[in-house]
Amino acid sequence: MSKQIIVSAPGKIHLLGEHFVVYFAPAILATVDLRTTVTIARCHSGDSDILSEDTRIYSGKDSGQARLVSDESERARMTEIVEPIIKKHLKIKTIPPYKLEISSQIPIGAGLGSSAAISAACIAALLSFLKVKWDLNLINSLTYEAEKVFHGNPSGGDNSTITFGSIIRFIREPKTIKPLGINIPERLAQNFVLINTGKPKKSTGEMVSLVKVLREKNPQLFNESLKSQTELAEKLLPVLKSGDSSKFIKIIRLGEKNLEAIGVVSKTSQKIIRKIEKAGGAAKICGAGSTTGPTGIILAYHPDKTKVEKIARSYKLPYFSTTLGVEGVRQE
Ligand code: MEV
Repeated sequence: MSKQIIVSAPGKIHLLGEHFVVYFAPAILATVDLRTTVTIARCHSGDSDILSEDTRIYSGKDSGQARLVSDESERARMTEIVEPIIKKHLKIKTIPPYKLEISSQIPIGAGLGSSAAISAACIAALLSFLKVKWDLNLINSLTYEAEKVFHGNPSGGDNSTITFGSIIRFIREPKTIKPLGINIPERLAQNFVLINTGKPKKSTGEMVSLVKVLREKNPQLFNESLKSQTELAEKLLPVLKSGDSSKFIKIIRLGEKNLEAIGVVSKTSQKIIRKIEKAGGAAKICGAGSTTGPTGIILAYHPDKTKVEKIARSYKLPYFSTTLGVEGVRQE
């Protein structure tokens, strides 16, 4: 590609608050040091290729190398979602032909915000390609538009975290995106393990709809869990600063209980989480989860993380450690 523009965006985890954040509870989210990288360049006359023939998507964390995963869905993302959003925002009818390559270290559909990261990086890359100056507020609001197309009723937490980076406290309404400005003390930060249970059968949008039905059927149960989750999110803030391991474990365990109460944690993942708890740690699903089978990433913590790693190995599940709170969207 000639005159390339490269933009990258990180993945995210929810320390607390997924699903409840859709109904205005606070969520605590952090970026993770896995990135999606988008490279864009103009197609010159004589090039027969147009976007739809030249969008390449690579993904993969476990090998340490990004690898090809899918073309079709990402082509559709560009032509059916990202381009219309940009055209509408800039009030333009056409976009000159371009070549685009997406490589991602973020496992797709595992609760690490791969969808928001790809959209954010594509939007920023396409704006730069069109020589439009952008800032993170613009990227965040356009990425939220893309998230709405994908998920129907997103809270905006994923795109805000990925765009602005760091560790944030997010509330949907009244809109609050507050960077916490903390470095989590090492005794906590060094002992997180992300276990990949595999791609959930249901999409984030489907899981959000399922929770909506549960909330309508059983408002008392939902509201009790939401109240508890709201209190936990407030309690978590000083604990993240102090690095108090036993308080952290208590909060994460209760957070997971609330997620189980609203039915987004499969029996399979509950079993793994109970094992980690029994070994003295805490674990929770991360993202939308699933009612059956794999639930995507399990975020686990243990003061001695080798205990969690051993459990992951016993289930033959891939796992990795990550730095939390890395930079958001950036032009490379
Ligand atoms: C998905 O990563 C998080 C959910 O809370 C949905 C959302 O916040 O839009 C399940």
